[in-house]
Order: sequence, then structure tokens, then C-alpha cells
Amino acid sequence: MKVLGIETSCDETGIALYCTERGLLGQALHSQTAMHERYGGVVPELASRDHIRRVLPLTGQVLSQAGVDVSAIDAIAYTEGPGLAGALLVGAGIGASMAFALGIPAIGIHHLEGHLLSPLLSADPPAFPFVALLVSGGHTQLMAVTGIGRYALLGETLDDAAGEAFDKSAQLLGLGYPGGPAISRLAASGSAGRYRLPRPMLHSDDLDFSFSGLKTAVLTAVRRGLPDEQARADLAAEVEAAIVDVLVAKSLRAVRETGHERLVVAGGVSANRRLREQLAAASAQARLRVCFPELALCSDNGAMIAFAGALRLQAGATPTAGVGASIDGYRVRPRWALDALPAV
Ligand code: KG4
Ligand code: ZN
Repeated sequence: MKVLGIETSCDETGIALYCTERGLLGQALHSQTAMHERYGGVVPELASRDHIRRVLPLTGQVLSQAGVDVSAIDAIAYTEGPGLAGALLVGAGIGASMAFALGIPAIGIHHLEGHLLSPLLSADPPAFPFVALLVSGGHTQLMAVTGIGRYALLGETLDDAAGEAFDKSAQLLGLGYPGGPAISRLAASGSAGRYRLPRPMLHSDDLDFSFSGLKTAVLTAVRRGLPDEQARADLAAEVEAAIVDVLVAKSLRAVRETGHERLVVAGGVSANRRLREQLAAASAQARLRVCFPELALCSDNGAMIAFAGALRLQAGATPTAGVGASIDGYRVRPRWALDALPAV
């Protein structure tokens, strides 16, 4: 089965073609980062308009790269939520229309399920059950995963997400958007420890997170004055260390508490080198397996949506648009809890 994946939940237009027999046949991505950078964050209306311009040309590009005719697509998977309503409507609208026109099913996918399952696209995929650490710009969650759609929330952030903490700290340091990669680059020439930032809830007796205090502490340090470039790099290194320390400690605690032996990390922040290194070291010591998505699949992309759609359709899930759908038209869900998804 060949599934075309369409991701338009935020500021990346991601298109990919996944084949259940042959794997990923092609993918293309357009990032709107440069367009939003001058505003310091994503402007929803600009995002929607840009997705409209990109989806069909990128789809053509993916199909010709894969050498597959549009008539050979068996199903469409699009991101149904969560995300920006207008941006989601573009992918859902085009995905559902293509499905109607081609006489094939379309399925709406939960963006975070896409992230969560993306490490399964690797050559040596982890088996269920596992603990998943989902770290993106909008979410920080620990889930116990026992199958597709079987996600139990173990803990989550009470305020800012980890990616948001990177982004806001980067803004205070005068770095560009997105902040995660920018902080990470600057941190490479600095050392943590010169400035001391809080590790919120590190020792709390639960699996929740809180990152909003971090930006206040960064703001205080910035206001006191950073004398030179080295000071900025040292503060960036401390920001990264503070976020990573908490993510590592809570993930290991979740693994201990559930008794699962595998940890899967996904979402934009899973690209962070320090997080990967520290989790690999801690996991080796605790004798558990840790899996990350390929670097290219950490941030938003169409491949994870196509893959999740293929898994769900193969398992007999009901299409949400096109052939076999139970409703006319299509819907999007800007807010949508991951543990509310039906199991397949
Ligand atoms: O999953 P994602 O691409 O989009 C959402 O669904 O939110 O995640 C984007 C987030 C941003 O906050 C960005 O700063 C962060 O992921 N990010 C990183 C790195 N690359 C992206 N954070 C830390 N280190 C990185 N290398
Ligand atoms: Zn994402």
C-alpha cells in the first residue's frame, strides 16, 4: 500500500510517500522559518497561506522523485490536529479532496502520534511496549505505549513545553527562531555551571515538568548583564543543561515506574545532541534501550504522517474522508489529547 502523507500543522509543509512493502519512496519539506523569523514566532495566517502555495508542488515533486503516478496512490494521510486551525485546514482540505477525486480513502492523523511512531521507521525498530518522551515546540509528555493508539499519559508539562523553553530563552539571548538549534550551536562554545539556572521539579515525586521558571531565571541573568560572547555561550550551555537534566531524570524515572525496558524519544527537541548523549549514557547505565528518530525525521515532516496513516489503515482503522469514510467532508482538531485516540 502506498500512502501519501501531508503535514501542515504548523510552519513546515511536509509531504512524503510511504510504501508498506518498500518503505519511504520520497519526501519533500518546505520550512517557513525564514518567513516567520522577523516576528519571533509563527504567524498563523502567514503559515496557512504559505501551505496553500506549497502542498501541490511538493506533492508533484515527491511523486516524480519516487517515480510513482498519482493514480498509484492507495491512500492519503493528513494531519488532523493538534496545531493551528487554518494551517491544519489546508492539509486536511487538500488531502480529503485528493481522496475524493482519486476514489481512495484518507485518514486524519494525530500529529504527536506521527512523532511518537517515527522511531519505528528505523531499520531496527523498537517493539511495544515502551515509554515515549515527546518533546516538541508545543508539548512535553511522557507516555506509556503498549500499541498503536494505546497511549497512557504518565506526566506532562504544567506550563511551557521543552521546545518553548528553548525558543523563549533563545529570544532573551537575542538568538533567532527556532531557538533550540540556535541555543545548541551557541552552547557548543560555552560551559554549563558558570550561571546556575533552576532544574524545576527535578526531584518532585511525579512525572510532570515545569519550564516557565527557566525563562524568568534567564531574563534575570540577561538583565544583570552578559559581559561578552563567552558569557552568552556559557548561559546558553546552562539553559541546555537545565532542560536536558530534567528530561533525562524524568524519562528514567518513567521507565523505572512502568517496568518497560525501552525508551523512545521523539519531537523537534529529540534532535538535540546533548539530550541524545545524556540519554544514551543514562540508558546504558540502567540497561535499557533508547531509540531516536533519524535526525531528518525529528522535526515536523510528511513521512511520519504517511507512516502512521499506513499503520492505522493496515490495522483496519475507519477512514476520515474519501472512500469508506463515516462522515461527509472532513474535520480538523486544533486541540486534541493524544490519550483520547482510539486504539487499533
Ligand atoms: O516537533 P517540532 O518540529 O514542532 C512542533 O510540533 O512543535 O518541534 C519544534 C521545536 C522547537 O521548539 C525547536 O526549538 C525545537 O523543537 N528544536 C530543538 C532542536 N531542534 C529543534 N530544541 C533543542 N535542540 C535542537 N537541536
Ligand atoms: Zn511536531
